[in-house]
Amino acid sequence: MTQKETRPEILQPSAYSLRFMPQRLTRAIDWHGHLSFAAWLVELMEPKSIVELGVFRGDSLSTFSQAVKECKVNCEITGVDTWGGDDTTGRYNEEVYHDLKDFFATNFPSTTLFRGLFDDALSTFEDNSIEILHIDGCHHYEAVKHDFETWLPKLSKDKGVVLFHDISVAIEGFGAKQYWNEIKDSYPSFSFSHSNGLGVLLVGRNQVKALAELTQDAQALDYARAIFELSGSRFHHLAKEKWWRDEANKHAESLSYTTEQLGANLSNMVSEHVANYLNNMDLTASLPTVEAPKSIIKRIADKF
Ligand SMILES: C[S@@+](CC[C@H](N)C(=O)[O-])C[C@H]1O[C@@H](n2cnc3c(N)ncnc32)[C@H](O)[C@@H]1O
Repeated sequence: MTQKETRPEILQPSAYSLRFMPQRLTRAIDWHGHLSFAAWLVELMEPKSIVELGVFRGDSLSTFSQAVKECKVNCEITGVDTWGGDDTTGRYNEEVYHDLKDFFATNFPSTTLFRGLFDDALSTFEDNSIEILHIDGCHHYEAVKHDFETWLPKLSKDKGVVLFHDISVAIEGFGAKQYWNEIKDSYPSFSFSHSNGLGVLLVGRNQVKALAELTQDAQALDYARAIFELSGSRFHHLAKEKWWRDEANKHAESLSYTTEQLGANLSNMVSEHVANYLNNMDLTASLPTVEAPKSIIKRIADKF
């Protein structure tokens, strides 16, 4: 009997996914609502290959990597990005890539970071090999359509699942919603509307039972939506809290620097004034009157 046959059926959403605590929560909060679901998907599918198109600060890629490690799944994970930004994400600086590279080298060294265009990464994958593909690059309609159509042959005909982020976003220039509405009935699918929306398209013909069930059982889907939304929302708040704490620390640091600087400036000014006073004193004349210190104080006070 194989290990798979003895493995108990995973309930949806599983205890593991509800207790999941992401190792990486940056200020890129848009995906945070889906992290518990992503952990569940990895636990459930035990995929052999995960590819993410559009990594940015890496919160979603880190969760896939963490779940693979924690669930002891034998899986190759690749994140593809130019780490330069695009029309819908905006442009950003090199620091984003360096911070991410250090994080993955320390925590998930077996995850591959492919720096380049999605189109350039295509040839490094065999057809029919990817089990989870996450499309989260440029969100123009043409870009989402292009990314799906060019990568579809790479997906496993057996277990392949494609995730589309931002399918709830109704902002000019964002076309993931329109493309999702066009494609979602071509394969069994379901979606979440929170955290900018996530479409789940089951392109493989032989899906695990719990996943296939969500495409057919409205009650089960409603339950999964409520639980994953609730569970994922914690990360949103944790990330915001961390961000505010970091900001507060930064301000506190600059405040103490300013106070020190102020003290140093003040003592320099006093020394300067005393030196000027002594230089200007006519040492041949009589000793300064009692008025002299008062005039120093007045000159210092005038400086403020
Ligand atoms: C929305 S962000 C990804 C967010 C990330 N998945 C998360 O959850 O935080 C989109 C990323 O896709 C990258 N990108 C967009 N189009 C690309 C392309 N054709 N080739 C490579 N990278 C691309 C951008 O550089 C950007 O970092």
